[in-house]
Amino acid sequence: MAFEPTILGFLCNWCSYAGADLAGVSRIQYAPNIRIVRVMCSGRVDPIFITQAFLKGVDGIIVLGCHLGDCHYMDGNYEAEIKMDALKKLLKMADFSERFRLDWVSASEGSKFAQIINEFTEHIRKIGPSPFRNGALENGLVDEFKAITNSLSDNRLRALLARQRAITTKGNVYNEIIPKEEFDEILNNAIYDEFIRNKILQKIKNKGKSVPQISKEIELEPNLVLNHIVELRSKGLVDVEKIMEEVPLFISTN
Ligand code: FES
Repeated sequence: MAFEPTILGFLCNWCSYAGADLAGVSRIQYAPNIRIVRVMCSGRVDPIFITQAFLKGVDGIIVLGCHLGDCHYMDGNYEAEIKMDALKKLLKMADFSERFRLDWVSASEGSKFAQIINEFTEHIRKIGPSPFRNGALENGLVDEFKAITNSLSDNRLRALLARQRAITTKGNVYNEIIPKEEFDEILNNAIYDEFIRNKILQKIKNKGKSVPQISKEIELEPNLVLNHIVELRSKGLVDVEKIMEEVPLFISTN
């Protein structure tokens, strides 16, 4: 039987949901694969909703909001863009970003809504079913997804994402405006570091491992792994389980 993807769509109430409604009343045909969750604003969509839905086996997820500048809550869709961009970077590290899309549809764009849904459904149909379908959760991808979810829960990363727009346009508490490129570099490094640290924590969750073992499992230089371990130890997230033949085995404390 041909594969029919399940698509989850988060649509903002004021523009995109109204656009979908217009497509319906105008009898514009679009793929019936989408299941819609109506949210008040695209800014309400926490990236963790997306990772959780992927883990449940959804094949593709789309977030639709008002066009930039048209959000009924002023900055909601700018916030969504920043958060979803970070999510996309993390999904890319797990080779999963192709299954996610963020776009803008206004209340008068019924045909654009239909076109986006048709395109995205066809795109997911070509990629094929999600590896998480049918509860197939044994592979290393689950660890990657846990690392992504934990990264997105990190307070420092969340604070950076929440402040990005204000700091690059209005300035910080000292009224210093940080250029967007400079801030993005800080943000990108934070995203990458958080992902790697959470990947390490997943690998040493139940069993102590040496730096070379971890390095091999996550395919990262041992000196870089050691730097992350030092950082994680300073936060109390990693401890030495035991020393074997003068080699310390590190284990997660959670
Ligand atoms: Fe539509 Fe904010 S109300 S994106």
